[in-house]
Amino acid sequence: MAIALICTLLLLLSQLCNASDAITQLKPLSDDGSTLVSKDGTFELGFFSPRSSGNRYIGVWYKNIPVRTVVWVANRDNPIRNKSSTNTMVISQDGNLVLFSQNETLVWSANATRKVSNPIVQLLDTGNLVIREANEENVFLWQSFDFPCDTLLSGMKFGRDLRTGLNRRLTSWKTWDDPSSGDFSMEVELGGNPDIVMWKGKVEYFRTGPYTGNMFSGVYGPTTNPLYDYKFVNNKDEVYFQYTLKNSSVITIIVMNQTLYLRQRVTWIPEAESWTIYQSLPRDSCDVYNTCGANGNCVIAGSPICQCLDGFVPKSSQQWNAMNWRQGCVRSGEWKCGVKNKDGFRKFSGMKLPDTTHSWVNGSMTLEECKAKCLNDCSCTAYSNLDNTGGGTGCSIWVGDLYDLRVIESGQDLYVRIATSDAGADVKHGKGKKVIVVVSVIASLVFVMLLAFCIYMTKEKCQGKIKTKLRTEDKNEGRQEDLELPFFDLATVVTATNNFSTENKLGEGGFGPVYKGTLIDGQEIAIKRLSRSSGQGLKEFRNEVILCAKLQHRNLVKVLGYCIEQEEKMLLYEYMPNKSLDLIIFGKFSRMFCFSTAWCLWKEGNPEQLVDACLANSCNVFEVVRCIQIGLLCLQHHPSDRPNMTQVVVMLTSENALPEPKEPGFLIRRVSKEGDHSSNRQTTSINEKLLSLEVLPCIQMAYKHGVKRCRTISNGILFPVVCSSFCCSVVGGIPTVPCARQCV
Ligand SMILES: *[C@@H]1O[C@H](CO)[C@@H](O)[C@H](O)[C@H]1NC(C)=O
Ligand SMILES: *[C@@H]1O[C@H](CO)[C@@H](O)[C@H](O)[C@H]1NC(C)=O
Ligand SMILES: *[C@@H]1O[C@H](CO)[C@@H](O)[C@H](O)[C@H]1NC(C)=O
Ligand SMILES: *[C@@H]1O[C@H](CO)[C@@H](O)[C@H](O)[C@H]1NC(C)=O
Ligand SMILES: *[C@@H]1O[C@H](CO)[C@@H](O)[C@H](O)[C@H]1NC(C)=O
Ligand SMILES: *[C@@H]1O[C@H](CO)[C@@H](O)[C@H](O)[C@H]1NC(C)=O
Repeated sequence: MAIALICTLLLLLSQLCNASDAITQLKPLSDDGSTLVSKDGTFELGFFSPRSSGNRYIGVWYKNIPVRTVVWVANRDNPIRNKSSTNTMVISQDGNLVLFSQNETLVWSANATRKVSNPIVQLLDTGNLVIREANEENVFLWQSFDFPCDTLLSGMKFGRDLRTGLNRRLTSWKTWDDPSSGDFSMEVELGGNPDIVMWKGKVEYFRTGPYTGNMFSGVYGPTTNPLYDYKFVNNKDEVYFQYTLKNSSVITIIVMNQTLYLRQRVTWIPEAESWTIYQSLPRDSCDVYNTCGANGNCVIAGSPICQCLDGFVPKSSQQWNAMNWRQGCVRSGEWKCGVKNKDGFRKFSGMKLPDTTHSWVNGSMTLEECKAKCLNDCSCTAYSNLDNTGGGTGCSIWVGDLYDLRVIESGQDLYVRIATSDAGADVKHGKGKKVIVVVSVIASLVFVMLLAFCIYMTKEKCQGKIKTKLRTEDKNEGRQEDLELPFFDLATVVTATNNFSTENKLGEGGFGPVYKGTLIDGQEIAIKRLSRSSGQGLKEFRNEVILCAKLQHRNLVKVLGYCIEQEEKMLLYEYMPNKSLDLIIFGKFSRMFCFSTAWCLWKEGNPEQLVDACLANSCNVFEVVRCIQIGLLCLQHHPSDRPNMTQVVVMLTSENALPEPKEPGFLIRRVSKEGDHSSNRQTTSINEKLLSLEVLPCIQMAYKHGVKRCRTISNGILFPVVCSSFCCSVVGGIPTVPCARQCV
């Protein structure tokens, strides 16, 4: 008995001492608990069964991490059914690495092609399992790094060897306890301009966008980080991505997560004894491949998120309006190749570059040469710099439709071919808020100049329904910017409103009365006539013209034009017949009712009750209440109490304390009750519609941010969810149907 015990102990000891990092022809590895351990003890290789499964696999995992993390599996698609010490991994006669199950069936073979005289199989400190000649340390005849599973380790090449045709791609585990190949994979896609593509089965699911010198066009993130360095190598022999740890004591890996359909970078936190997610892709619905279809542009803060590029219209507006964007957009018809004024480019800044499958590149061309090259080819639809570093170099050209466009922080400039009559303005998407403010300032100045100009010019010059262009010079580009808003002359408006007759009066807002009108062509319009006595009128008017021109939104009343003549300042809106806007505002989802609710709940101190139940779990209540408060501030009766756009932007982007909102305007029956306010409005009751016209831009900002702040996680992707009560309350009665439709 004692002898048997000693023998067992000795056997165990010998096994422990022999915890080697290599297999030789004389020393195979059996399924009896023995393992290989890399020299520095980081990685371990052996037989294992995942969780509840009884199947046996050969795998590599981190030795010192308590949560077993398998980073590579040899026979992932050929499991051994039974645990048995007769399962063995051996070096075969011809120097290949093979795996036998108990019945001596060959289960797996490394299929190394070159023969060696004295082969050993070694597990390196990097986690790489290699076959090599015993006396040649750095020449590998085969290596597991060339056959990744679902995990990318530091130092692994992810991508193609063009000389051998090897494609090192990642494929997820099928389930948590089944390492066989799932349907979520990722690989380097070749082409004129390679990028990395994720697949969900055979469906393209995400692409990183081309590498632009120090990052991938569509992967937002810091180019330097404390954890790892990375590079993308693209030459005639190889195309691959690789990252290397800056400090090998930090453990971070890239894993394909089939459950969530996310490629995750996870980092081991020793103190917490768990992995934390450092980065996930795709991040949002705009990241999902081609969400907005051909020539559609995805703007995650937008509502809806898909918009056609300027110069393009939805292929099927019915589908598009039903939020089925896959059919994408087509040219609006103006563009004619090579025809003067009908052919040119518009610059879109902050863009993820389109799918490069149908693209062409030249690393030495300048941007000007690139433009010329594109102009000379009628199939060319867009161009950009190839490399974005050092001010931009090289040329990338796209032919045919543009796919998978989105606005992204730190995105690139993309020049899209469109009719030049609209090609003037540079659209800077990525920095929307700042741009709106800057544009407003520039445009305001220009507008003042235009006003002066118009007053100076003789009356005839301003007569008739002419289009007035506000032109600014963009210093950097030397380009011209056109802000177009049609100008209507006073006579047209007088005719349309039957000389501002009382029957045509819809009501009165904070700045003056609003009339209904009918243009000669039969179009119905609403006209807001700024009261002459309002000292602030001109400023607000200017802002409103500019903002309305910039912030057109399908949930908002469209501004059709303006009129300035003599003392008159007027804005012309599309008229909302009773059966659309009014129904929604005053009918089923009464405004009055909803607002009232909003204001009452606010007064009671329970504004969070406005949040629809379906939003409850996906919203940060604090942020929603903040949006509601900003919405209420926008609706205060006196224009001077309402925040201006810059203030709204600050309020939405900071956590500063907000002022307490005063009672919304339309709750006050008679303005005269408010005191000595302007004399020509004392008896008119406030009309809800009019108020909404005045506060739209302000509300719209709150609304957009409300959307941005309320997202729900569905299928691993973030979808904006807006529910009727939220829209109704925050937006103060802007149509809620499209919002409600998104609330599933
Ligand atoms: C041997 O084992 C393999 C894998 O476990 C199995 O597929 C095969 O049917 C077995 N063969 C025999 C003859 O039992
Ligand atoms: C082991 O394999 C044999 C046949 O290959 C099978 O009959 C037996 O049930 C298996 N044992 C277990 C525990 O699965
Ligand atoms: C090795 O070759 C066999 C036969 O061609 C094939 O079935 C098997 O999948 C290959 N093994 C690996 C690991 O590629
Ligand atoms: C590497 O990381 C460890 C643990 O965080 C730290 O103690 C060590 O100083 C780091 N080494 C370097 C060279 O930064
Ligand atoms: C995928 O991510 C979820 C959530 O982080 C995690 O619970 C699960 O284990 C992950 N699956 C894999 C295969 O890593
Ligand atoms: C790339 O552009 C340069 C400069 O225009 C030209 O000399 C060169 O031939 C081009 N290369 C290719 C492959 O077209």
